[in-house]
Amino acid sequence: MDHFHYVNGELHIEGVPASAIAEAHGSPVYVYSAQTFKDHCSVVRSAFSGLEPLICFSVKSCSNLAVLKLLVEQGCGLDVVSGGELYRALQAGAAPEKIVFAGVGKSREELTYAIDAGVFLFNAESEGELARIDEVARAAGKRVKAAVRVNPDVADADTHEKTSTGGRQTKFGVPLLRAEALFERNLYRHVDVVGIHVHLGSPIAATATYLAAIDKVEQLADRIEASGGKIEFINIGGGFPAHYRASEAREYCSLGEMGAAICDRLQGLKRRGKHFIIEPGRSISANAGILLTSVEYVKQGWERKIAIVDAGMNVLLRPTLYGASHAIWPASFGAFDGHWSALPGLGGTNDGEGFDAIDIVGPICETGDYFALGRAMPALDGGDLLAIFSCGAYGMSMASQYNSRGRPAEVMVEKDRQRLIRHRESYADLVAHELCGL
Ligand SMILES: Cc1ncc(COP(=O)(O)O)c(C=O)c1O
Repeated sequence: MDHFHYVNGELHIEGVPASAIAEAHGSPVYVYSAQTFKDHCSVVRSAFSGLEPLICFSVKSCSNLAVLKLLVEQGCGLDVVSGGELYRALQAGAAPEKIVFAGVGKSREELTYAIDAGVFLFNAESEGELARIDEVARAAGKRVKAAVRVNPDVADADTHEKTSTGGRQTKFGVPLLRAEALFERNLYRHVDVVGIHVHLGSPIAATATYLAAIDKVEQLADRIEASGGKIEFINIGGGFPAHYRASEAREYCSLGEMGAAICDRLQGLKRRGKHFIIEPGRSISANAGILLTSVEYVKQGWERKIAIVDAGMNVLLRPTLYGASHAIWPASFGAFDGHWSALPGLGGTNDGEGFDAIDIVGPICETGDYFALGRAMPALDGGDLLAIFSCGAYGMSMASQYNSRGRPAEVMVEKDRQRLIRHRESYADLVAHELCGL
């Protein structure tokens, strides 16, 4: 569960009212709960305790330095996919021995940086990449470890096509049947290829999807070891779900069941001395963050009312990019007391009775700039502060300056203290890197 509750009708993040954060830092603003991050680390750790894995938080899901630092202090390693993310990881104090480096297109420059930094494991996605890692490691006079990301041709039926990564039609990994050859002993002089990595998509709702991929990974490990190769690490990636709808919030503990089933299926490999890595992103960060946004105007459209808020698709892209549904509600609501998932209007499906359908849209010049269409909401007015829930993952980390709108501020709440962890971008920030010859 997370720490976003209404107290006498006022949304609180831990002990701080949402209104106090908007007053201090304006809107739109991303707000995170430190305790929720910590609790979710514990939930993930306990769900996968049967494997004692290295937990590498997926930096791409929520990459603010303060967040990474907090998670590193909780004992997490980090999963990075670019030189920039590696820079963040090191700035946040992550030990290089707890950093894994994934991504389909690592440049020579990124590999040099990562090898110099002493990154623990490279998740290589192609033969060409392994050859390049070998070459860069030779030039650096080092020997490094790599896992091969395999494409198991396993896709989850419910995962959005843009975030499904385990199917044969995607660009990710090395097709299972071609992977075996890459584990041949002494194929590379400066890379020990000792791990198998899979990441099936984000999120993966069905445990059966993981189990199907794990079976294929285990068979691959058997074949590799039968022909003289050696597997030390199995990395099953991330994609463990978070809750976006109120009903899912009430069922969050199901991560325990999913983890237990996965651990169970991997016990054979554990008995053979393999070490495990997981790369959770959203299951730790999604429900640790919300977006506060103010209503600028409410107008009557042809079909229904439209509320125009001060955040746009440049601030939160998921609804228009993935058709993602986030619960949205006023930060001030009668005398309601309790967790947001129990709000009367949200029900199980966010289609509360007794409220009018309204579009919640942003100020960007795109029809796709919306957060919800035809959503049942209490009557809204200009100046109302709204909370968009479950925005901690792929929220700020996907934000842009489109329409020359600065990215929002970020605030971390810990008990009854709020701390600014990123300034709102100014007009000067928007042009800071531009050279116009003046
Ligand atoms: C290789 C890899 N690992 C882990 C993740 C994290 O996924 P999630 O945030 O759904 O846990 C991703 C997300 O795209 C990924 O590409």
